[in-house]
Amino acid sequence: MAGDAAPVSASIVIDQGASTRGYTTKSVTISQDGTLSVVNLDSMEHTVTADDRGEDGLPLFDVLVPPGSTVSIPAASKLAPGTFGFHCSFHPSTMTGTLTVEGDSGGVTPAAPKFEQPLFSPPVITGSHVRLRMEPALVRMLPHGARTPMWTFGGTYPGPTIRRPAGHDTRVTFTNGLPRRARSMSVHFHGDHHASADDGQPDRFLIGHGHSRTYDFPLTYGGRPEPSSFFWYHDHRMNRTSQNNWHGLQGMFIVDDPKPSSLRLPAGRRDVPLLVADRSFTATNDLTNPYRHAATMTDDMTFIGPNAPPTDVVIGNRILVNGRFAPYLPVSATRYRLRLLNGSSASAYNFALSDGRPFVQIGTGDGLLPHAVVRQSILLGPAQRADVIVDFHREVGKKVVLWSLARSDGSTTGTGTRVDALMQFRVRWKADDRSRIPSTLVPVPKIDIPTHVAKTWVFDLGGDSTTGTFWSINGKAFAPDRVDYRVPLGSTQRWRIRNDSDVTHFVHIHAEQWHTVLRDGKRPPPWERGLEDTWRLDPGESVEVAAHFVDYTGAFMIHCHMLDHEDHGMMARFVVTPHG
Ligand code: C2O
Ligand code: CU
Ligand code: CU
Repeated sequence: MAGDAAPVSASIVIDQGASTRGYTTKSVTISQDGTLSVVNLDSMEHTVTADDRGEDGLPLFDVLVPPGSTVSIPAASKLAPGTFGFHCSFHPSTMTGTLTVEGDSGGVTPAAPKFEQPLFSPPVITGSHVRLRMEPALVRMLPHGARTPMWTFGGTYPGPTIRRPAGHDTRVTFTNGLPRRARSMSVHFHGDHHASADDGQPDRFLIGHGHSRTYDFPLTYGGRPEPSSFFWYHDHRMNRTSQNNWHGLQGMFIVDDPKPSSLRLPAGRRDVPLLVADRSFTATNDLTNPYRHAATMTDDMTFIGPNAPPTDVVIGNRILVNGRFAPYLPVSATRYRLRLLNGSSASAYNFALSDGRPFVQIGTGDGLLPHAVVRQSILLGPAQRADVIVDFHREVGKKVVLWSLARSDGSTTGTGTRVDALMQFRVRWKADDRSRIPSTLVPVPKIDIPTHVAKTWVFDLGGDSTTGTFWSINGKAFAPDRVDYRVPLGSTQRWRIRNDSDVTHFVHIHAEQWHTVLRDGKRPPPWERGLEDTWRLDPGESVEVAAHFVDYTGAFMIHCHMLDHEDHGMMARFVVTPHG
């Protein structure tokens, strides 16, 4: 400490509208040993999170600041002299700042990201009748210390990857062997086309404690094999989906083309599904429980309390790939097919590679695109998927990191993405490679797109903070016994989805695989010209989507896939009715 001066302390101020305007104090200075505080005058929750990580892999400082509160950041007093970037984990593209620490020497400095454990590849199950027990298990997630108690499908996190040829009937029997307090479960095969009773309904056809249920997936569409695709399965229980997924009830599901394809895409060990999801841990490697201070539900499905909408965002401070923190994967100097899935409750990622190497996107989660698209970065929100090829040719000895970068598409009102290193590819050896990157892939199945919009779904925030808030669709919170729309089987529907709220939502529609007709009144970008089931909607945005309803009658869901939004009302039910 220089001279006799008292240590200089400072405060980071967050004012109304910070999610779009940023921190009020974008640069602050303290002296070593000085105190750093945060004052949140906004009505939303924010964080002050260091961009850099320490030896333990955690941000150098990281505090959550509830609306209307002041919090101090003791870790900042221990930092070495220098400049440290910080951001809000909920609004990382708009809320950034720098902290300057003045002093002579000593103190905590940032550490380079370490990749200390191999990537986990979930076991692959290919049989026509899959049996999975939902059970507690200890899972290696962090590289040091104890394994983490999770709720799993079959003892692993992610659960086993189910891999089946399209058009081949597939049954999956789940047995609920979870502790009684976990109560009943419901499993949804996200993206697949199947009967209402096999859809993982939030409030019916449940799997009670100690009970089993068999789901049937014919993997057909209108009697023909469905497109090859990258689906996933996860719990969908009403009001508890976010917690059940946080605890580990997630797995991947790949549907392959039944006949050998002439496309020569990378296959076998060079086809790597990656489930990316964030979690936070206690000092003993248990998951933290962000639901302990959960919003309280009132009688009429509104919520009060600190985590009531719109502040119901569950963010983990460690981003995991296939359940492991900062893993590495040894690869050959060949092309790889990576299937990226965002399994987080709220976090969005802007995937990019550390050496500026592009992704060649060949598919969405619901099948191949008509044409390959070269992309420097790929933004995926909760439940969104991308099927990409990465080329490591001539790179033996190189290490390439998969990052999530700050959102770079120019949106000023949309929710930002996490900024972090996710995993590392180590290019170890040369090998033969017969794969190629085809430019023309598979045409999207044709449908006659109606000219008029049959139904508009408006996503917004309802209620008020004194009587309770809820996330709404067309002004209403989810009600399990209400039918929000009826669709005649055999019809082709064109729907408009609009976001009137001031945060981004990621909207998922069950039952069919959809064509994106318009995004904000214009032709969608090339990567949105395949089939889709989940769309990003920034504040004020709209998409128009179309699908032909075939095969199944009964109830299906439309909802936001930010799981706390879903649990807090942002879900509606449509019923497909027999025609004639
Ligand atoms: Cu992936 Cu209705 O959910
Ligand atoms: Cu924020
Ligand atoms: Cu949402």
